[in-house]
Amino acid sequence: MTIDNQKRSKISAGLKSLSSHLHDMNRSGISSVKLTDDAAEKLNSLKKSINSQFNIECPDPSTKDKAALIKNIKSKVSRSKEIKELGTLREKLVFSSGTPEAKIIFIGEAPGREEEEQGKPFVGPSGQLLTKIINAMGLNREDVYISNIVKYRPKVEGGNQGSSNRKPSNIEVQKSLPFILEEINVIKPLLVVTLGGTAMEGLLKIKGTLSASRGKLYEKLGTKVIVTYHPSFLLRSKSPNRDKRRLWEDMMLAMNVLGMKLTEKQKNYFK
Ligand code: URA
Repeated sequence: MTIDNQKRSKISAGLKSLSSHLHDMNRSGISSVKLTDDAAEKLNSLKKSINSQFNIECPDPSTKDKAALIKNIKSKVSRSKEIKELGTLREKLVFSSGTPEAKIIFIGEAPGREEEEQGKPFVGPSGQLLTKIINAMGLNREDVYISNIVKYRPKVEGGNQGSSNRKPSNIEVQKSLPFILEEINVIKPLLVVTLGGTAMEGLLKIKGTLSASRGKLYEKLGTKVIVTYHPSFLLRSKSPNRDKRRLWEDMMLAMNVLGMKLTEKQKNYFK
């Protein structure tokens, strides 16, 4: 679709006036504007459409820039008053692991005990299973980016929680969501894979069971998303073969999206 000069000058005038409004706000001491998820998404697609209409090339940041931007997000999380004020999350920040150059991001719900101890996501039993899944896809953990929606281990009533973990609450997910969205925006992977219901509902606002939601392609911030089971669900499953097979089908879909060629062995894992 092309636009004529009249429309271009209207868009241009609109952007100038928005820019001057934001400068005025900044001068009066407002340094950030909070956008709802919806508004952020609309703004993002408007940006994309304007860039393409005006033939503006937006080069991807270099690896070094991406790493610095990810570090910056980590630092923002650690300084976030909103998160601290909740008072329901523990102190130790567990951010992400892997490469900012990844073509695929795996997103879980929140760190558990082992993750908190090591300061890295997915290093406990479910992390070990996730590593096996990544390896079965022909990848290593270093080739992918692994993160969680909630970046601190949720507190359990009473404080002394030993090994007990709790599912993050809605409010904890909502307050943490902007950070994972920023991570996706910096990395710009070909695909995001959410692990489990919390990440699926948080990121995509989908209600319903995972079994009914999996097997399809979704989109968030212009990036393709698939949803699959959390590895911890597979570890507890009463039908482990059926659920492992389903998860592997999801990973084959992921590999297709990534343009990876499946080997005969990969195609036949569960045949
Ligand atoms: N479960 C998660 O969702 N994330 C982790 O990092 C570990 C377990």
